[in-house]
Amino acid sequence: MVTDNLRRVRALANHVDPARGVPAHHRPGFTVAVLGAAGGIGQPLSLLLKRTPLVEHLHLYDIANVAGVAADVSHVNSDATVRGFTGPAQLGAALAGAHLVVIPAGIPRKPGMSRDDLFNVNAGIVRDLVAACAKHCPKALLNIISNPVNSTVPIAAEVLKKEGVYDPKRLLGVTHLDVMRARVFVAQALGADPNDIDVPVVGGHAGITILPLLSQVTCSQKSDLSAAQVEHLTERVQNGGTEVVNAKAGAGSATLSMAAAAAEFAAACLRALAGHRNVTAYAYVASDAVRSLPFFATKVRLGRDGVEHNYGVPSRGTSPFEKAALEKLVPELRASIDKGVAFVANGDEAHRRRAAQQRRAAAGQAGNSDVRASGVSQIPA
Ligand SMILES: NC(=O)c1ccc[n+]([C@@H]2O[C@H](COP(=O)([O-])OP(=O)(O)OC[C@H]3O[C@@H](n4cnc5c(N)ncnc54)[C@H](O)[C@@H]3O)[C@@H](O)[C@H]2O)c1
Repeated sequence: MVTDNLRRVRALANHVDPARGVPAHHRPGFTVAVLGAAGGIGQPLSLLLKRTPLVEHLHLYDIANVAGVAADVSHVNSDATVRGFTGPAQLGAALAGAHLVVIPAGIPRKPGMSRDDLFNVNAGIVRDLVAACAKHCPKALLNIISNPVNSTVPIAAEVLKKEGVYDPKRLLGVTHLDVMRARVFVAQALGADPNDIDVPVVGGHAGITILPLLSQVTCSQKSDLSAAQVEHLTERVQNGGTEVVNAKAGAGSATLSMAAAAAEFAAACLRALAGHRNVTAYAYVASDAVRSLPFFATKVRLGRDGVEHNYGVPSRGTSPFEKAALEKLVPELRASIDKGVAFVANGDEAHRRRAAQQRRAAAGQAGNSDVRASGVSQIPA
């Protein structure tokens, strides 16, 4: 018996770092929260994050069906712990201590819909989730996936400003799927390996606001594209999401490729938080790359505090086709940004109007009651 116990203690000691009392193979990492984790993107994204080396704690939040997802993902072999959180009452706990919050919550497109058609539902979802982030993890990096990204990122910025915790370096709209698609489509055209190709994709994340700069493709092999190929590939990258929406025929939009892109992007953010050097990615961020557009997607370098350098739009070598496309996207992107900003401002105005109406109605009712006499208002300010 004594020998058995000794053997067990010795076996345990072999796996424990004596200095810190933790398993020797354990690498400290980060807490990552996924909001909308039970959805089409959220589930495969959570799976991929469970296997992402720098993830130490994975917090999966949704308004429904997340307990099963968390239990399932928790059985995947990695050190990361997994916890599920359901509904607004558990949102604060889901966000507590988060270093990175990834937000794919909200409805996806169906055939015939534009991303902007999602605004009425998703704007409010993003506003409320970001307000919770401001309260419970104000220093976290935010990765916004919910569409329309062109508007939801400005919404997030306005909410964070209102809460007094806005740091533009920490708010990133996820456009990495556009970059992934551009690499794959260009690789197919060139007969090359997509992982051997870099295609800058700038602008925003909807239709013509997505602008792949095909004059700037870098590839270890010959990468000349004809004018016809450039036109075709540009349109294919811009409509890549619609290609998937139509193929799914009503069952949603890109989920698996999006999860892969979001996991790659999140991993880049975590490497940067961990102090790795020269971590670059494309993202839709607060920017002065294009005059009159406060948000724009470009290549950025990420560091411990988020975006540490914005490479802007490469001016040298951009083709006339790309210059014209850039000019054309400006008004559309500007309108989407303004719509997001107005949503937060008018939302408040509408809320104030509703509250004032309620107060007036209550004052009228209370005219015959003791409540008024005691000076106690039943209506919150
Ligand atoms: N950025 C991109 O490149 C990109 C690509 C594809 C899809 N998207 C967008 O991602 C979003 C999600 O797409 P999906 O296919 O996963 O949709 P989905 O309907 O399959 O999943 C969305 C999930 O969000 C949850 N949800 C809804 N309201 C919530 C709230 N208030 N708090 C937390 N969770 C909430 C739902 O319960 C659901 O589980 C959509 O807006 C879609 O347009 C973005």
